[in-house]
Amino acid sequence: MSAATKPALRVGVVGCGVMGTDHARLLARQVSGAELTRVTDLDPGRAAALAEELGALTSPDGPALIAEEDVDAVVVASADATHAALVLAAAAAGKPVLCEKPLAPSLEEAAGVVRTLDADGTGHLVTLGFMRRVDPAHVELREALHRGAVGEPLLVHGTSRGVTAGSGATSEGLVTGSFVHEADSVPWLLGSPVTAVCWQAPGRSTGTDTASGDLQDPQLLLLRTADGVLTTVEVLLNARYGYDVRCEVVGRTGALALSEASQTTSLTTRSADLARTSTFAADWRPRFAEAYRRELQAWVDGVRGLEAPALATARDGLVAAAVCDAAVRSMRAAVDGAGLWTSVEVSW
Ligand SMILES: NC(=O)c1ccc[n+]([C@@H]2O[C@H](COP(=O)([O-])OP(=O)(O)OC[C@H]3O[C@@H](n4cnc5c(N)ncnc54)[C@H](O)[C@@H]3O)[C@@H](O)[C@H]2O)c1
Repeated sequence: MSAATKPALRVGVVGCGVMGTDHARLLARQVSGAELTRVTDLDPGRAAALAEELGALTSPDGPALIAEEDVDAVVVASADATHAALVLAAAAAGKPVLCEKPLAPSLEEAAGVVRTLDADGTGHLVTLGFMRRVDPAHVELREALHRGAVGEPLLVHGTSRGVTAGSGATSEGLVTGSFVHEADSVPWLLGSPVTAVCWQAPGRSTGTDTASGDLQDPQLLLLRTADGVLTTVEVLLNARYGYDVRCEVVGRTGALALSEASQTTSLTTRSADLARTSTFAADWRPRFAEAYRRELQAWVDGVRGLEAPALATARDGLVAAAVCDAAVRSMRAAVDGAGLWTSVEVSW
């Protein structure tokens, strides 16, 4: 059956916040072969408004949406702590699921999910939303590295900055919610697993007096991969000036970096005060808009049996959780902001 004659994949989205809304709009308007049929959210008004905008129906909650007859596959974009149960419910129902990162906030929970998927033989139904794997700039960087453009890699420098931390942000949440992207993208980029992590922290940025009262921002994570490469990752939630993700790989014969243009929105202003300025995005959506579109298209194509680029699996989610776990253990044992090297332990 050709792509044109295959029936559209009917997708339900759980969680109608920032990411769920973005994914639902893409599925309804831009992803070919997909039909958005259902949405749900803890806040029924939010779900109803999105359903009306996109011509979908609402379901009372996640489990009910997964069970709907007009839902073939599910996108999970609700809060991190809800992911594991929803992924397992979708897999148990035999429905493919694309789950936003992380698979679960803790290593124990992520390992439990993978154990159950393995026992039931349903791991193939689960995809993790590590969208850097299909971000054009990251893909180009990886391809150049692998064709030897700068020789063997020695160092990686990652930077991940946001405008302001949310009111519920915590030190450990920064690791499991933000750094988790590098926990997946660095080994993916290098083709080598992270073996140890060391957590370090300087003073605190303005804006760390959050409701939790427990936010170390920024944090610096050092990673060792099995290939001997050393990686630095700076995560700064309260950068103020804009959303800014960077990556540079230093090799034996040169260096490769994501271009400046890939970090900013496209507007450059030349003004009468003899200045040239470019504008940063306020959050991650403009920077990764094309990656989210490609991710959803690849997921829908893959589920429909068409050829598509490889996306992250539940096991990749578990491995990233193990890297985050090592970072958190290094943080918990830190003295005056200086943690020790801590081994990554993946067990399931
Ligand atoms: N891939 C990325 O680049 C990226 C970026 C941001 C966030 N995320 C992830 O996406 C997910 C959503 O993040 P967000 O920024 O949209 O958060 P958000 O707070 O804007 O939205 C989350 C929504 O989920 C709803 N919700 C919570 N628990 C629910 C449940 N049990 N059932 C149904 N709805 C529920 C909330 O009411 C809220 O509307 C998180 O897991 C986050 O880590 C991924």
